[in-house]
Amino acid sequence: MKTIISPSILSADFANLERDIKAVEKAGADWIHIDVMDGHFVPNITIGVPVVKSIKKVTSLPLDVHLMIENPEKFIKDFKDAGADIITFHYEAVEDVMGVINFIKSLGIKAGLSIKPKTKPDEIFEFLPYLDLVLVMTVEPGFGGQSFIHDCAQKIPVLRQEVEDDLIIQVDGGINNITGHICVSLGANSLVAGNYIYKSDDLSRAIKTLKG
Ligand code: DX5
Ligand code: ZN
Repeated sequence: MKTIISPSILSADFANLERDIKAVEKAGADWIHIDVMDGHFVPNITIGVPVVKSIKKVTSLPLDVHLMIENPEKFIKDFKDAGADIITFHYEAVEDVMGVINFIKSLGIKAGLSIKPKTKPDEIFEFLPYLDLVLVMTVEPGFGGQSFIHDCAQKIPVLRQEVEDDLIIQVDGGINNITGHICVSLGANSLVAGNYIYKSDDLSRAIKTLKG
């Protein structure tokens, strides 16, 4: 299976979002990763539903929406209606994990579950058969441009061993040419990258390098 590259627009220029989204689309991106933060689950505030709705109009790539918010179930329908194709929420943010997975799937889109650096992979084993994607955070969620936490990458083979090949194991945080390669060799098949792609002077080359 090829590696799905999902550039995080958190590192784009928000005053030129259309230009920066079209640039990664042209450069070979597979998905567009949208980081939604509420100032509660993480200490930062970013993008909301109206922005997702506008992004949907300027790209044909699937929108990979990463919800770093409390009570994600309250907003999932709105993000779906705005154009989200994949919705990933945090294991640490909800009580009824299975209920939220079922709700996302009932909307006819892909469901993802994310774990923060301190969460152990075996805590989510029971949900794996029902998920389309698992997102392993390799930084504390909240900000782009942080350094990759190598210990977190060891969760990838643990999860990969538990599941069928068609589960997408995505990694997010501090991904570059070196750390991305490590994650893929450990069993990841989707990489999110913000700074590595957007701060590069050759977007196509950066994306090609991540694809390996
Ligand atoms: C962090 C976000 C990431 C972030 C990645 O909380 O979930 O998607 O934008 O940025 P880089 O690749 O710069 O670490
Ligand atoms: Zn993210």
